[in-house]
Amino acid sequence: MVLLSLILPPILLLLLYFIVRPRPVTIPIKNRHVFITGGSSGIGLALAQQAASQGARVSLLARSLNKLQEAKESIRRSSGLDVAIFSADVRDHDAVQKAANDAGPIDVLVVNQGVFVPQELEKQGLDEIKFMIDVNLMGSFNVIKAALPLMKERKDRLPASISLMSSQAGQVGIYGYTAYSASKFGLRGLAEALQQEVIADNIHVSVVYPPDTDTPGFEKENEVRPELTKLLAGSSGSMKADEVAKKALDGIKSGSFTVPCNFEGHMLAIATAGLSPQRSFLMAFIDVASVGVLRLVGLFFQWNWYQTIENWHAKKNRT
Ligand SMILES: NC(=O)c1ccc[n+]([C@@H]2O[C@H](COP(=O)([O-])OP(=O)(O)OC[C@H]3O[C@@H](n4cnc5c(N)ncnc54)[C@H](OP(=O)(O)O)[C@@H]3O)[C@@H](O)[C@H]2O)c1
Repeated sequence: MVLLSLILPPILLLLLYFIVRPRPVTIPIKNRHVFITGGSSGIGLALAQQAASQGARVSLLARSLNKLQEAKESIRRSSGLDVAIFSADVRDHDAVQKAANDAGPIDVLVVNQGVFVPQELEKQGLDEIKFMIDVNLMGSFNVIKAALPLMKERKDRLPASISLMSSQAGQVGIYGYTAYSASKFGLRGLAEALQQEVIADNIHVSVVYPPDTDTPGFEKENEVRPELTKLLAGSSGSMKADEVAKKALDGIKSGSFTVPCNFEGHMLAIATAGLSPQRSFLMAFIDVASVGVLRLVGLFFQWNWYQTIENWHAKKNRT
């Protein structure tokens, strides 16, 4: 038994070293064109600032021209660099296509725009549900469809990246996030299939899973969060937009398919790994070794959440 436990790990590591796919890659940022949707605020703006300070040529796309101009000014102040701005709604494919054409060949595409309005499905209007699906999911298709031909045309042929900003609500469904979770879970399916389609073009797909993050969007969301959503999702505190942007940019540069942002996110990434690609044989080893225990931890979380929901309803019925 002792001998087996000594022999098995190196054999597993060796096996994983040969089978993990796609192969490890490094995506350069310096002197490359980074195009960020939703880059005028929150996580997207923080990412733009960091990419610019690492020497990237940055383009931002969002709807409000005023916010874009403020973002451009704040990046100029912090890094002394100029960024290009494009006002377009990701729901309008023609407008996004025009912006992408004007911006020129893209090396790193960050599909970050997103809207979140938490509400129980029964109470949420279909217009609001459609709004979230259209911006978060359909909008991401519009952006990728517009940018992909331009990415394939890139002159340097160095590794390129498409990253999608999901959410921890894109890994696990939480009370009050039916529409938002559906839009973010959708991004993962898109990303897994897309990675297989673009690997031959040396394009590498990442999905970033931020937890609650202090941004203007989050502040607005907090005002309308249902009480139970606050109880279930609000316990772990929030990250700063700069910290999330750093994790996202590091994940993009290392071509990681799954990009968690904190410790909880790493645990969630392993627990929900499924058939996702994994480039690192060491991470694959950790996945294989800990998935059983993390399933147990996940079941404890579910137990705790259902307990909270049950108690909340019992309290409500008493009053
Ligand atoms: N903050 C969090 O707690 C959190 C947690 C997990 C995941 N996320 C995800 O992270 C991403 C960024 O969130 P954030 O908190 O930084 O949001 P934010 O501060 O509200 O910024 C959202 C950005 O998206 C743009 N945008 C919204 N709708 C758009 C549309 N239809 N077309 C083009 N651009 C649009 C906004 O500009 P305009 O309004 O001017 O268009 C803005 O630049 C989102 O995908 C979100 O789902 C956030």
